[in-house]
Amino acid sequence: MRKKIIAGNWKMYKTAAEAAELIAALKKDIGGVTAVDVVVCPPFVHLSSAVEQSRSCSIAVGAQNIYWEEFGAFTGEVSGPMLTSIGVKYVIVGHSERRQFFGETNETVNKRARAVLKAGLKPIVCVGEVLAERESGRTFDVIRDHVTGSLAGFTKEDMLKVIIAYEPVWAIGTGKTASAQQAQEVHKFIREVLLKMFDKATADATRLQYGGSVKPENIAELVAQPDIDGALVGGASLKADSFAAIVRNSMS
Ligand code: PGA
Repeated sequence: MRKKIIAGNWKMYKTAAEAAELIAALKKDIGGVTAVDVVVCPPFVHLSSAVEQSRSCSIAVGAQNIYWEEFGAFTGEVSGPMLTSIGVKYVIVGHSERRQFFGETNETVNKRARAVLKAGLKPIVCVGEVLAERESGRTFDVIRDHVTGSLAGFTKEDMLKVIIAYEPVWAIGTGKTASAQQAQEVHKFIREVLLKMFDKATADATRLQYGGSVKPENIAELVAQPDIDGALVGGASLKADSFAAIVRNSMS
């Protein structure tokens, strides 16, 4: 049985005071939830305080990126051991915005995901096709490419810690959710790719999140699909009431 996981990707939003306010409200509302894993991923500058604030509740904290070297002259970067040292538990890697705006490729996503594991953390590896790829019938090819490229060299043991987020790029921040059936179709395909790369036990055990305009109104139908184990939520994770409602509705 795969435990559901709902993660909030705050992207580049929230000042320190706003971040503290959001976490305080979430803590009050869903800080005792253990039936699903709940993760918030604030910008780097708020990670330490988010970890401190959520210490006495069930909400875990994730980062939105990582650099693959552990230390060195890499101005502006943040490493795995640094994240581990402050109590972060998850790291998003390969988000489509990083692929689109910051030159991320399957190869660099792979390096980052390995760095996450090396630091003892759990990677949330994002994959997903853009609209033109979907419209030209290349969705499955792109997804196969993203999954095999991002997880190249991973062992079955590594996979115990990996979460894959399927995020069709055309559904991110657009209000256009993939239908539950469209999402399920790709999630099922990801399990087939994992089966070929690893084995059935690994394919069955890996948690797969859907991301792209997830809201309190559509989460229940999404997680009711046999291969969808939760969500990576952007916009709707920026308000306590909508994120808490998504968490609650994912359990019903
Ligand atoms: P969205 O973003 O929920 O605002 O569509 C999802 C994501 O980018 O992770």
